Amino acid sequence: MIQFKGVVKKYKQQDVIRGITFDVHENEIAVLIGPSGCGKTTVLKMINRLLEPTSGSICIRGEDIKTKNVYRLRRNIGYVIQSVGLFPHLTIRQNIEIVSSLGGAKKKAERKKILQKNAELLEMVGLHPEVFLDRYPAQLSGGQQQRVGVARAFARDPEIILMDEPFSALDPITREQLQDELLRLQSKLRKTVVFVTHDMDEAIKLADRICILYQGEILQYDAPEKILKNPVDGFTAKFVGKHRIWTTPELIRAEDIMLINPVSTHKNCSLLRCLETMRFRSVDSILIVDDENKLEGAVYSEDVEDAPDYHKPAAQILHRNIYAAKAQDSILDVLRQMKQRNVSSAPVIEEDGKLAGIITKSSLVTALSKRYVDQ
Ligand SMILES: Nc1ncnc2c1ncn2[C@@H]1O[C@H](COP(=O)(O)OP(=O)(O)OP(=O)(O)O)[C@@H](O)[C@H]1O
Ligand SMILES: [Mg+2]
Repeated sequence: MIQFKGVVKKYKQQDVIRGITFDVHENEIAVLIGPSGCGKTTVLKMINRLLEPTSGSICIRGEDIKTKNVYRLRRNIGYVIQSVGLFPHLTIRQNIEIVSSLGGAKKKAERKKILQKNAELLEMVGLHPEVFLDRYPAQLSGGQQQRVGVARAFARDPEIILMDEPFSALDPITREQLQDELLRLQSKLRKTVVFVTHDMDEAIKLADRICILYQGEILQYDAPEKILKNPVDGFTAKFVGKHRIWTTPELIRAEDIMLINPVSTHKNCSLLRCLETMRFRSVDSILIVDDENKLEGAVYSEDVEDAPDYHKPAAQILHRNIYAAKAQDSILDVLRQMKQRNVSSAPVIEEDGKLAGIITKSSLVTALSKRYVDQ
């Protein structure tokens, strides 16, 4: 949707943006993050042509924006800045109307529709239109003004929304509420959003992809989870916080915690062999897989001990309906399932059903000790 190709921005002789190439997909929230002065605002302003690149190109839907009419371009791009930028002498209603296409709407029905949509937008960001539409910006709190700013960015129904640290001046609670509202709006209205912040928690919460900028260069551009797990270099790791993944357990997958090489065998293995293997490996169950290593079920030592004939195959006492976690399941879901089903371990399978590993109490302890002791 938005494509930067070798974009350079210089002020006098200073390179502020040093040849960046990246793209933002349609309907995704891309978050630009980086220390103060790294060029985030500059990148944003080049998208709506408040600034022009020194070289390189920026395309929207494959069209170089240089060739487009600036006003038409901006009409398709909502812009929210930290200081909100509401006109102080206009009411909230007027502030929103001025950016919505009301002026162009000649027919009464069309105008009515726009007005109704504006009221809905206010409602969606948690402001009652009856209460707020006729107030002036100065009569609103910072958080309320910022909500109007967000509603206004969506008002013209643009394809793209640029947000430059829109929530950074707000207290943490208001800030979280607005993040939630943005996500709610986004799930309904599906825009292509480029969001600037220097708060990693905000980036993780909002982003489909996070772009880490440092001194005018992109260090890494990837899904939050990937960045947390595999920060590409020292700076990113430091910026991300070394153990950040542990404070965001939703992003920890079963495969990150599981032990590989779980004890397994085929269903035609004799019960005696199963029992020996379990004793040798000090486990109380053995997973049964087919010839392609797909999980079929489990055999438990207590069942084997009760079996009348140890020479019969494992298939005889195979439990087929056991809980298996998918490799990509969040560890929180897995732990919930394990608790609900009162099991102390869970096999982990790939999408195709092949056995990948096992989560046990000991794998959790190992993971925790790596976090708190080993490092
Ligand atoms: N008009 C200008 N003339 C000269 N240098 C500028 C100009 N505007 C910005 N810069 C420089 O370009 C660099 C990038 O600025 P930019 O505003 O994009 O940073 P930023 O990442 O948004 O920072 P912040 O997090 O503080 O908002 C900075 O070093 C800044 O000093
Ligand atoms: Mg900035």
